[in-house]
Amino acid sequence: MASGGTGDELVFFVNGKKVVEKNVDPETTLLIYLRRKLGLCGTKLGCGEGGCGACTVMISKYDNLQKKITHYSANACLFPICALHHVAVTTVEGIGNTKTRLHPAQERIAKSHGSQCGFCTPGIVMSMYALLRNAPEPNMEEIEDAFQGNLCRCTGYRPILEGYRTFAKDWGCCGRAANGPGCCKTEKENSANQGCCGKRGNGPSCCMNEKEENAVTISSSLFNPAEFQPLDPTQEPIFPPELLVSDFRTGICILPWGYAALYQETQNSKPHKQLCFKGERVMWIQPTTLQELVALKAQHPSAKLVVGNTEVGIEMRLKNMLYPVILAPAWIPEMNFVQHTDKGIAFGASCTLSLVEKVLSKAVAELPPYKTEVFKAVLEQLRWFAGLQIRNVASLGGNIMTASPISDLNPVFMASETQLTLASTEGKRIVTVDEKFFTGYRKTMLKPEEILLSIEIPYSRKGEYFSAFKQATRREDDIAIVTCGMRVLFQEDSHRVQKIKLSYGGMAPTTVLAVKTCQKLIGRDWNEKLMQEACHLLADEMNLSPSAPGGMVDFRRILTLSFFFKFYLTVLQKLSQQLNGNNNLSEMLPSSYLSATELFHKDPIANVQLFQEVPPGQAVEDTVGRPLVHLSAAKQACGEAVYCDDIPHYENELYCTLVTSTKAHAKIISVDTTETQSVPGFVYFISAKDIPGSNVTGIANDETVFADDTVTCVGHIIGGVLADTQEHSRKAAKAVKIKYEDLTPIVTIEEAIEKKSFFKRIRKINKGNVQKGFEESDHILEGEMYIGGQEHFYLETHCTVAVPKGEDGEMELFVSTQNLTKTQEFVANVLGVPSNRILIRVKRMGGGFGGKETRNTILSTVVAVAAFKTGCPVRCMLDRDEDMLISGGRHPFLGQYKVGFMNNGKVNSLEVSYYSNGGNSVDLSYGVMERALFHLDNAYNIPNVSSLGIVCKTNLSSNTAFRGFGGPQGMMIAECWMHDIAMKCGLPAEQVRKLNLYNEGDLTHFNQKLEGFTVQRCWEECLESSNYHARRKLIDEFNRQNRWKKRGMAIIPTKFGISFTVPFLNQAGALLHVYTDGSVLLTHGGTEMGQGLHTKMIQVASRTLGIPTSKIYISETSTNTVPNTSPTAASVSSDINGMAVYNACQTILKRLEPFKQSNPKGSWEDWIQAAYVNCVSLSATGFYRMPDLGYDFDKNEGKPFCYFTYGVASSEVEIDCLTGDHKNLRTDIVMDVGTSLNPAIDVGQIEGAFVQGIGLFTLEELRYSPEGNLYTRGPGMYKIPAFGDIPSEFYVSLLRNCPNSKAIYSSKAVGEPPLFLSASVFYAIKDAIFSARRESGLTEPFRLDSPATPERIRNACVDIFTKLCPSAEPGTFKPWSVRA
Ligand SMILES: Cc1cc2nc3c(=O)[nH]c(=O)nc-3n(C[C@H](O)[C@H](O)[C@H](O)COP(=O)(O)OP(=O)(O)OC[C@H]3O[C@@H](n4cnc5c(N)ncnc54)[C@H](O)[C@@H]3O)c2cc1C
Ligand code: FES
Ligand code: FES
Repeated sequence: MASGGTGDELVFFVNGKKVVEKNVDPETTLLIYLRRKLGLCGTKLGCGEGGCGACTVMISKYDNLQKKITHYSANACLFPICALHHVAVTTVEGIGNTKTRLHPAQERIAKSHGSQCGFCTPGIVMSMYALLRNAPEPNMEEIEDAFQGNLCRCTGYRPILEGYRTFAKDWGCCGRAANGPGCCKTEKENSANQGCCGKRGNGPSCCMNEKEENAVTISSSLFNPAEFQPLDPTQEPIFPPELLVSDFRTGICILPWGYAALYQETQNSKPHKQLCFKGERVMWIQPTTLQELVALKAQHPSAKLVVGNTEVGIEMRLKNMLYPVILAPAWIPEMNFVQHTDKGIAFGASCTLSLVEKVLSKAVAELPPYKTEVFKAVLEQLRWFAGLQIRNVASLGGNIMTASPISDLNPVFMASETQLTLASTEGKRIVTVDEKFFTGYRKTMLKPEEILLSIEIPYSRKGEYFSAFKQATRREDDIAIVTCGMRVLFQEDSHRVQKIKLSYGGMAPTTVLAVKTCQKLIGRDWNEKLMQEACHLLADEMNLSPSAPGGMVDFRRILTLSFFFKFYLTVLQKLSQQLNGNNNLSEMLPSSYLSATELFHKDPIANVQLFQEVPPGQAVEDTVGRPLVHLSAAKQACGEAVYCDDIPHYENELYCTLVTSTKAHAKIISVDTTETQSVPGFVYFISAKDIPGSNVTGIANDETVFADDTVTCVGHIIGGVLADTQEHSRKAAKAVKIKYEDLTPIVTIEEAIEKKSFFKRIRKINKGNVQKGFEESDHILEGEMYIGGQEHFYLETHCTVAVPKGEDGEMELFVSTQNLTKTQEFVANVLGVPSNRILIRVKRMGGGFGGKETRNTILSTVVAVAAFKTGCPVRCMLDRDEDMLISGGRHPFLGQYKVGFMNNGKVNSLEVSYYSNGGNSVDLSYGVMERALFHLDNAYNIPNVSSLGIVCKTNLSSNTAFRGFGGPQGMMIAECWMHDIAMKCGLPAEQVRKLNLYNEGDLTHFNQKLEGFTVQRCWEECLESSNYHARRKLIDEFNRQNRWKKRGMAIIPTKFGISFTVPFLNQAGALLHVYTDGSVLLTHGGTEMGQGLHTKMIQVASRTLGIPTSKIYISETSTNTVPNTSPTAASVSSDINGMAVYNACQTILKRLEPFKQSNPKGSWEDWIQAAYVNCVSLSATGFYRMPDLGYDFDKNEGKPFCYFTYGVASSEVEIDCLTGDHKNLRTDIVMDVGTSLNPAIDVGQIEGAFVQGIGLFTLEELRYSPEGNLYTRGPGMYKIPAFGDIPSEFYVSLLRNCPNSKAIYSSKAVGEPPLFLSASVFYAIKDAIFSARRESGLTEPFRLDSPATPERIRNACVDIFTKLCPSAEPGTFKPWSVRA
């Protein structure tokens, strides 16, 4: 925080208001300043490392050299407050609000249903706003690019793009059919005018031809763009005039020619006065001239230059580095210029990457193509370099000087022999980026007193070709696994190599040059022989130890060859074009190889969401069944919605930072807090000895609030440091010294199996006679599949604020939790007070997904103890890395199967063993395993089943609930053997799947009868709407014509059991107060985490009471209004709370009945008034329990589920066989959600769950050291789906005419069931890999574990390159990482 600092005055503007800060601490970021000092809490902290965009703000500056105002988006979490001098900041609060007027960027995301939990929303609004300030009519590509640095975990992105598409100049059509027949615009007209959904082209199955009684109106309009206010750029807040008249020398000097002009321009403006800010530990100096800067550098050789702070900020925050002196070269003219020279384009080292992108794009457009080969390569790398917010501030010089081995630009600079100008008090010198420039891990040849002044990126010459490639886990905003720059220069008019440079990142501690390989290729002709020899040489030279840091060793080695092969083909293609057929080069390039040279391009997005409209005649104010907007969406879009950490700070509040174990399994020998106590602001170190009640906690009473003498996972909570501010408590926590005695950890499922480390309860579900089934089968297949875990990555991390009330042990806790009751119970238990003294309050969460069902209690109990001990309010919001480390996630599963089946693919018999990695405590692991076993059939009828479920006890943080709760893992393994069966039988997978589907009335393996089984209907509709069979043929054709790109397709059903499998949890309560003005305050047992539960509950109450939704309000969920609530989980919250709300409403209605009868024409308010004056209670509780539930594992009888939610999805993908990259081309989903309470919310749940599933099955990979240390602790290393990962074409259709008699207003649960449908993407990838393997003669079933990351895809596409990089023998080395 900006306190305790000394030095100059910092002057800047926030939302038009001038801020003069006299005590600036250079360690303070803009985000902290906004939230704490200015109370502007709309800007959110999601990660603190530039990886999520929740903190996006707009920065505006006056560029005095270019005489214009520049606006750009930036991450407030990395933006140093000291860099704000004479800058204007706009936050989400500065552009609109619900009291006066929403800005169109806020209104459109809200009304298009693009905000669920809302935690990401302000950041997304600000990215869009910054774009609109620069381009009021952007195109779709610009819109998509603007969001490269923003993440959303809830929505699945589609509605955000859909809403913002209305700003685009090319808006108007979904693009699916390019205005031809079937164009969405025609469809919408159809839908509006004639009631036809348009999806089935007026053919025999057209909805219009359906029987009268089935005919329903289908709509594809979840929102109406006609309601949007127009964007009026003249209405934007003005740039502060005080900054506009500044005649200071600021800005970028872009010079077409001539260095001298720089000084001419800049001499007219006067330099700023040098600034200096001193904080507790760090001093920031901002000099104004180069002379000053180099003198300062000579004086402080270890000082860090900071431009964008995107590297230094991370080092200081996450890597615990301290740089006491920071030099900011923002005002040095010689470092802020662009100059076209004879040899290329020179950039001052402080030029931002966005500027470089702009300048090079212009050069590429204007200069002859042969001159811009290197520029194009830089641009290709920048295309996938971080997000826009980072590129807007990160400098070119910063990227070089960071000297990261995975820098995207350094290989390009090395291969192109880019020249750098260095400066010091001794003068300037020019060096080339070559193999000697990087001298070690993050080290360069610069002397400590030297700085990088400028970078000259060269033009290419005639006969010179350049390419750059990068492969990352995720395409957008991800650091490279391997990256490269490749250059070849041919002898004149020939294809003989004169010079070649192949430079790689990700293959050593520095960017490297394949020197030996390059030497051997000189003088050789560019042909197949050269390619093959180069690959052999590279395989040898770019070798890696099997234990190399970063892991993925085989993949990285293969990539070096694949990239070269792509380069070879690209150059061959260009050569044959250039040499104009006077050669036989074109013959060396089969047409089926051409697509391997294509760079990734985005396809135009297209999507339609179809739902059944409410019946004609339904009252307008009855919103049930209508796409009502999430009732908090507008507040969320304006940054007004209050989350736990937005609660204003109490006067005497303390902050708590957890002290956690760095060992997975160890005895604690000592905890030394001596140094801690001397940190300014330190108050107290809490630990087990401070607990007034019981230290024992956890769902199975097998956990402790604080570790006593042994730690059982990295991240195990040992204590907590309390201090006056978050920064002080963090610093103090880092000073706690703990000594351990190591014990052997168990990390993986395999290790647990070997050591028989299991939790006690082992579950079995058996049906029929498995042995007989195998005997009667034509084939038996055995196999294994591993499904990795998943981090919840709710955008809002765990947070608790505990406020002791000072009387009788009372304490009020504001908690981000899905489970108030367990939080209350555990806090009461640790404090040794009855539950009635503990009040838990939840307004909303920034996402939960199961992660806040129980695991929030590990934080809430600690914070409660801290508040008890000190008598002060205590707050803690976990940093993203802490949250990922300590709070567990989805259980990894290992499934072993043996399946017997007939020649036609019909399954006879199945034997499966499921092992999950439970971590160090039981938590919800038994329930998760039971649900996995209940879903081992997915939607298939298996006559004979023998199954076993075992939870492994390991030394990882306890794994817990996650959307689907074991169901997705259980079903995934079913689809694995189903896919294998199809491959083994040589039959289309969809045929085998269809053959095995259940039918109405069938009994599941747990003997529950399937009633209202609609999978068959969903299946047929999905096949038809996706045009499955015709597209399958096109895919086969594509695969025949393309050797290195393959497409695949899969259609997958799902059947998801609805209800908690613990029967008593299927109960809910509600409390309804009607006030004398007729307004209704509703409370129920469920919590709002973005899923729209409160909105749906208000819809239910509105219909039941017969009053408009505007009269009903939900303020929060709390333990003093509805007691003993079940967690908001298992998808049933709408079902059970909806019925409880209904029940409460009915009670009120009954009481009102006499008044209605005596005044039938009266209004709601009249009846309420009458009831009040007649002393009738206007407060009612409601209660509901699901009937007839209960299942006995021993007898395999009873009913675990109230009903099932069904759906089917078909997905098509394209893989790059050389890099393992994949593109989600199209997904069609048909989902039975009964009669939807709110189609917009239900479609949002389907899309959000589906995209979260894409993350689970294709992207998100938790990586641990063999000792159990989690490496993936933030968005930098752990990749959830981004905007670019959703299917380009995304169609969702809610099944019509399928009312569900078992839930409120015939609806169905929807939160979890759609997640598994994303398995269609995984099996489409597997299908594509199968086609690739067939090219190498491999046609047998093969193993593909989840997630299908680029590494797994590439390694499975066996070919000549993979064979050159054989894997090291397992057991002969210690891998860098293991999967749990
Ligand atoms: C979310 C995120 C995503 C990222 N994605 C990518 C990516 O895709 N690819 C990639 O390659 N990198 C990536 N990075 C890394 C980083 O953004 C870049 O390295 C960036 O270019 C650094 O520039 P900066 O101005 O922010 O550097 P700073 O943090 O300001 O400085 C970085 C280092 O360079 C030194 N330095 C800066 N300028 C000079 C100079 N003129 N002379 C001497 N030393 C100097 C500093 O002292 C410091 O050591 C990412 C970072 C983040 C946070
Ligand atoms: S909080 Fe700044 S990017 Fe995540
Ligand atoms: S709405 Fe985007 S993270 Fe929740």
